Amino acid sequence: MAVNAAQEWWQTAVIYEVYPRSFADASGDGIGDLAGVTSKLDYLANTLGVDAIWLCPFYPSPQVDFGYDVSDFTAVDPVFGTFGDFGTLVREAHGRGLRVIIDYIPNHSSDQHPWFTGSRSSLDHPKRDWYVWADPAPGGGPPSNWTSEMGGSAWQFDAATGQYYLRSFHPEQPDLNWRSAALRQAMLGVLEFWLGHGADGIRIDVAHMLAKHPEFADNPVREQPLRNFTDRQHPDFDRQEHLNDRLQPEVHEYLAMMRRVLDDWSARSGRKRVAMAEVEVMPWDRWSRFFGRRDDGVHLPFNFRLIEADWSPQALAASVEGQEAALPLGAWPNYVLQNHDRARLATRLGLRHVRNAAMLLLTLRGTPTLYYGEELGLADLPVGQERWLDPLGRDESRAPMPWTSEPGGGFGPLGVSSWLPPYPDLATVSVAAQLRDPGSVLNLYRGLITMRRSTPALLGGRYETVKAEDGCLCYLRSTDEQEVLVALNLGAESASIELPRPGRLLLDTSCHRRQAQRKRLDLPRYSGAIIELDPN
Ligand code: NOJ
Repeated sequence: MAVNAAQEWWQTAVIYEVYPRSFADASGDGIGDLAGVTSKLDYLANTLGVDAIWLCPFYPSPQVDFGYDVSDFTAVDPVFGTFGDFGTLVREAHGRGLRVIIDYIPNHSSDQHPWFTGSRSSLDHPKRDWYVWADPAPGGGPPSNWTSEMGGSAWQFDAATGQYYLRSFHPEQPDLNWRSAALRQAMLGVLEFWLGHGADGIRIDVAHMLAKHPEFADNPVREQPLRNFTDRQHPDFDRQEHLNDRLQPEVHEYLAMMRRVLDDWSARSGRKRVAMAEVEVMPWDRWSRFFGRRDDGVHLPFNFRLIEADWSPQALAASVEGQEAALPLGAWPNYVLQNHDRARLATRLGLRHVRNAAMLLLTLRGTPTLYYGEELGLADLPVGQERWLDPLGRDESRAPMPWTSEPGGGFGPLGVSSWLPPYPDLATVSVAAQLRDPGSVLNLYRGLITMRRSTPALLGGRYETVKAEDGCLCYLRSTDEQEVLVALNLGAESASIELPRPGRLLLDTSCHRRQAQRKRLDLPRYSGAIIELDPN
């Protein structure tokens, strides 16, 4: 991407993931809803200053996988409100200059979806091939060794017709069959529907899974299970390589079909629509194919590498440079540190790393996606395995957003118990408390977002690593007119960094600004600073 070329909105945007169930409860049933999200748009657009929200699923669903098991793709679940509430949310968001990206779940539906109840009813039902059905293996048992991300075989026997159906997640989430033209047409129709109702883009759930091996060939088994494997979302990845139950070449054809629908809407409405996609961590060359061969894939295939990288200057620099090198011509990078499937960063790495993480995410070259509560430095909320509603324990990173210090945290009406308990330390973690403290994590995020927006080198400038050793990661972001040095001391010792030339502190992780910097920059442990270097 040429520096200073006109950038698309999604290239300069900060995107914010809203998990509606846990964001704000307007109806008073203890579960967050769309009206709750609408009530917080001023916070998002003006107080925090993000540019777009990605809404996790709000469609009718038995909620076996918290909305990722959809029983009607073109409606709103009453637990989240009404269809009118969605329209209000979009209108109110657009009125504040906020874009709305919806979750699009093309890989599977709920087993309660009428498509599936029809499909499973007989071998010759017209929608039989809308799902992935297979005969038992010759000697009996599942058709292949594929495992589910929720544990056990990915094949579910259905006695009514004597075949297995594929369910890469819960048994209640049968996989849709994108090899069926009729299914594709129906799912692309879903996309049309939401774009027609104002969505500015989509986040495609498990995009890499859309095409499976046509003969269901076994996945290679790992002789030695991976060690130190702590990925909460993928409990089975240490045992087999998921090569045949996903990632077949047709994936890219299907994504190109979605992209055509988006481009068509962009052209027709004059409003650019974006495709983000959940793509698991995989070798860079495979990941980069998600952009498409001729920019006909997704705009932002999520880059989850920073979630999995060691928190060391060397590993982080390697990860950033890896993405930069893997980008096809004209493609745009992106970064994610947290989401609703993973442990929060403060839990994964420790609270002491939260501020540097914020500075890193918001100063790298590429679109950052924040997860609700990330801007408060929230840790997971331990709820105890006996209270988990999700078998993978992801509840702990989905606790109610703490808005105020009053009992219940202002998540819903006073006195209503939320679906998960509120954070216990509301007097320090809540939005209200942090807004009062000029040096809070929230005020750091606000400062970073504002500064990013007004600093061309951060929005569109080149990236260059200048130091990745002795606990410090330093990099330059530069346009022809502006040069900014970001220096992060990730280590437990204080550090002193030599500046290439004098400059001015734009912001440090304690929220200080504007001091002149001469020859050296002193960084206490676990702290970082952004310096605009004086012109040469
Ligand atoms: C990825 C989603 O982020 C996760 O929450 C969900 O369980 C699976 N896909 C299945 O939809």
